[in-house]
Amino acid sequence: AAIEKGGYDHFMLKEIFEQPQTIFDSLRGRLDAKNGTLTMGGMREYAEVLNNAKRIIIVACGTSWHAGLVAEYMIEELCRIPVEVEYASEFRYRNPVVGAGDVIIAVSQSGETADTLVAIEAAKEKGAIILGVCNVVGSSIARLSHAGAYTHAGPEIGVASTKAFTAQLAVLCLVGLKIGIDKGTITPQRFQHLLDELEQTPEKVAIALNLDNQIKQIAAKYKDARDFLYLGRGYNFPVALEGALKLKEISYIHAEGYPAAEMKHGPIALVDENLPVVIVATKDSYYEKVVSNIQEIKARKGKVIAVVTEGDNIIPPMVDDVIFVPAADELVAPIISVIPLQLLAYHIGVLKGLDVDKPRNLAKSVTVE
Ligand code: G6P
Repeated sequence: AAIEKGGYDHFMLKEIFEQPQTIFDSLRGRLDAKNGTLTMGGMREYAEVLNNAKRIIIVACGTSWHAGLVAEYMIEELCRIPVEVEYASEFRYRNPVVGAGDVIIAVSQSGETADTLVAIEAAKEKGAIILGVCNVVGSSIARLSHAGAYTHAGPEIGVASTKAFTAQLAVLCLVGLKIGIDKGTITPQRFQHLLDELEQTPEKVAIALNLDNQIKQIAAKYKDARDFLYLGRGYNFPVALEGALKLKEISYIHAEGYPAAEMKHGPIALVDENLPVVIVATKDSYYEKVVSNIQEIKARKGKVIAVVTEGDNIIPPMVDDVIFVPAADELVAPIISVIPLQLLAYHIGVLKGLDVDKPRNLAKSVTVE
């Protein structure tokens, strides 16, 4: 087993550290930044339907659903197509209004999640076109899909998804870029810029992984907290949800993810000196707003752990702990900003002596209802 883990203590840590490679693998053969081209073989046959979609519905569960939320922001920006993101279990039971002209993107690491599978079966019968974004080649969801783009993250053993998530983000960005450039809803300049940005993500993720020791120290400081709040806005809002989910799964600490501004409508009531608040506050179009959200928390004595962009000198003096990540375009920033949150959950789980690879009550793939 030690050999399988490649020298790491746990599969989860091994998979977290594999991400520079797995993200590279998800882009390989598709993105060619030097020549400014993007080839999505599994979308070719349905290119016209995809480009003319009236709307896109993303259907998924768990971490894959969080990737879907990021994709909603990406695809609406790049393709100007309205996108909805649905929990598969909710979508399938309400006789959804769906049919010809709709494109369903099914996001699933395993490709076997029962709710996602049944949801797309129903939508397919009603005439929707299914684009599968799966990790496991030949899985049920992949086979049921008309078109697809595999994530190529390799086998994921840790129950809490890590490398599959970042590969999903990379591939969903490629899907948006492909449709966007075909439709002309993004400029060639923006297209080229995002190809370059994506190409640089493996390297930036590797830099973020160097924070491991620092994050272990932060983990030791907060591991006994009863609750955690995770906040982010825009592209980083789903990252907050994912950070909270990772912590819950691995450490059994109650954690809630929220859009930072929505905090005022509830979670702010929980803020006191005992509540650690993890804020993803990288430099993007929401930055100024997030800075005021941090002030609101500090005014109530919350402990703030902020993930910020390298070079930021505004937020660090305001907060309790600061984690610097490399600068990136906001569209690809989640691929990088989620790394410290994965590490934080991992280290808290380990420090609490828990089985991080096999958390209680959870399954790698939920193939029954
Ligand atoms: C389970 C796993 C999660 C995963 C979710 C969806 O809950 O523990 O890690 O995100 O299922 O699985 P899928 O294979 O469809 O992505």
